[in-house]
Amino acid sequence: MKRRQFGQVMFTAAGAVTAADGTDVVAQGEVPGQEQGVQVDRIEDAVSIADVRLIAKSRMEEATFDYIDTGSCDQYTLRDNVNAFQRIQVLPPLLTGVRKVDLSVNVLGKKIAMPILLAPVAGQRMFHAEGGLAAARAAATMGTVYGMSSSVGNSVEEIAAAADCPKWFQLYVPKDRQVTRRLVERVNGAGFEAIVLTVDLGEWKDADRRHKFAVPKNMLVKHLRDIGFSQVTMDMSEEEIQTFNADAWDLALSWEFISWLRRHTKLPILLKGVLRPDDAQRAIDAGVSGLVVSNHGGRRLDGMPASIDSLEAIVEVAGEAVEVYLDSGIRRGTDILKALALGARAVLIGRPYAWGLGAAGEAGVERVLQLLHDELENAMLSAGCTSLQDITTDLLQRSG
Ligand SMILES: Cc1cc2nc3c(=O)[nH]c(=O)nc-3n(C[C@H](O)[C@H](O)[C@H](O)COP(=O)(O)O)c2cc1C
Repeated sequence: MKRRQFGQVMFTAAGAVTAADGTDVVAQGEVPGQEQGVQVDRIEDAVSIADVRLIAKSRMEEATFDYIDTGSCDQYTLRDNVNAFQRIQVLPPLLTGVRKVDLSVNVLGKKIAMPILLAPVAGQRMFHAEGGLAAARAAATMGTVYGMSSSVGNSVEEIAAAADCPKWFQLYVPKDRQVTRRLVERVNGAGFEAIVLTVDLGEWKDADRRHKFAVPKNMLVKHLRDIGFSQVTMDMSEEEIQTFNADAWDLALSWEFISWLRRHTKLPILLKGVLRPDDAQRAIDAGVSGLVVSNHGGRRLDGMPASIDSLEAIVEVAGEAVEVYLDSGIRRGTDILKALALGARAVLIGRPYAWGLGAAGEAGVERVLQLLHDELENAMLSAGCTSLQDITTDLLQRSG
């Protein structure tokens, strides 16, 4: 792939970004691109992710919608994930004669229809009764990967049976290594094609604390039993289950865990949450097959940089050794074009499809994937790219 050094993306003078109507969206605390949607009622009338978000907002309980929507603390990182894309501009060449584009891409050796994957997202049964089953079916229809969260609300076997699409399993690690081992064995046996190890921590969301947001007891019991904590039953009190859940997970992992995981699976391992080049190098040395450049959509430690601003340095370290993916802040096809130009093999989306699920279940997730697919296709046509290989840093310039 042709590439030139793009350099650090710079902030605008005051660190502020102005919305189309002239208001300072950062000062208002709004996320640009999310508030621009016009209220529509039917998912088939949604013309942007912003529209899908507003449909979800009108249909979901406030606490559940906010669980999806908000980020940690002051939400600096959440906002910057979106703002950072505005600081990168596209300079398309003219008269390229391109009239057809191919969006297909190989991920971990598997050809999929588009470079837009569904990120692991917890709690999907709270967004829609069909939860992860609906999202996985939408991924299959649209020809892409379903990233199953450990905490999605369904078992590995249920998701495996739901849809015939490539599936990656995202692992949160039980402290009890026997439970972890059995879970990984089930993932190995259920036809998943990769394990995504998420290692970024520090979630501290004011909205969730204000709402006292908690997974309903029956869903939490199912989730814990699905993981393999068979000692958890509906006979336990709500408090006992919450206490068990709070203590069940290993939140103090170190690099040795990757070696442990390597010994228990032949599946490719991706490390999710990478922002530092030195961590990228350690992960490569530890034998991972891919890196997901991510700040967890601004849901973890607030103040971390926008993922897109960290991408280029990680791509530099990765070279040809491992595949690099990006998530956090993707709301438009042009965002995807920019991420691919900076070296991502593909992007993952979180909130956009969680909103789709809340708005209209399976049809909502399909709509989200279709919108982003079509926007990327249009961006590629406009930039004279016939395939993803043609999307290079030459197409970009930075503002500021
Ligand atoms: C409601 C919600 C739940 C999430 N749950 C998980 C999870 O269980 N595991 C995980 O690795 N990431 C989780 N994420 C983070 C996503 O995988 C992804 O990194 C993030 O959503 C990307 O940013 P975006 O929402 O701006 O697309 C979650 C994100 C959301 C919005």
